[in-house]
Amino acid sequence: MPREVNLGVLASGRGSNLQSIIDNIEAGKLSAEIAVVISDNEDAKALERARKHNIKAVYIPPGTHKTYLDDEVEKEYVKCLKENGVELVILAGFMRVIKKRFFEEYSGRMMNIHPALLPSFKGLEGQRQAFEYGVKVSGCTVHFIDESVDHGPIICQASVPVLEDDTVETLSARILKEEHRIYSEAIQLYAEGRLKTEERKVRVV
Ligand code: GAR
Repeated sequence: MPREVNLGVLASGRGSNLQSIIDNIEAGKLSAEIAVVISDNEDAKALERARKHNIKAVYIPPGTHKTYLDDEVEKEYVKCLKENGVELVILAGFMRVIKKRFFEEYSGRMMNIHPALLPSFKGLEGQRQAFEYGVKVSGCTVHFIDESVDHGPIICQASVPVLEDDTVETLSARILKEEHRIYSEAIQLYAEGRLKTEERKVRVV
């Protein structure tokens, strides 16, 4: 069994991806521990889910900007992650762009999940963008975070068909199921030391 990697999860809302990671850890399928969950939203269901499983859950107010954290706030987030011994930062529905304080400390050690097949449909509501564009296949992507939004080296992807009678909601639900599966897979590969990044390419060794 590989060593347990210490995770810090950042989440802004519902927290279903967080929940799937918790469930996989508890089921012994994922060699990880969640050291802390941090949210920019005091009412995030993600915080509630963490507390229910006796995981440290912290709300850190985001500051004055809408789409990213104030610089001073970023410092607080990073301080909290470090104090809790976090090795790998997991963005699970965290709706703010990560900036320089995170890269100073966690470059190459931050993952994100996006609900579309990158590089298509970056940004908000990837599922809706894909649906409205009329694609026949969409999906989700787990990637390392670099300094451009939804851009870093891709670890894994899963595709799902878009069906004739789909709505944004039914398509999103089908994608979410795959999100829950591949996010834990990516974390497990990291824990096993099997992800090697060479420029844009992540090889599984
Ligand atoms: C997920 O679909 C995730 O892919 C998406 O937010 C949702 C969070 O759900 N993330 C993004 O769009 C990031 N750009 P959850 O809170 O239930 O895990």
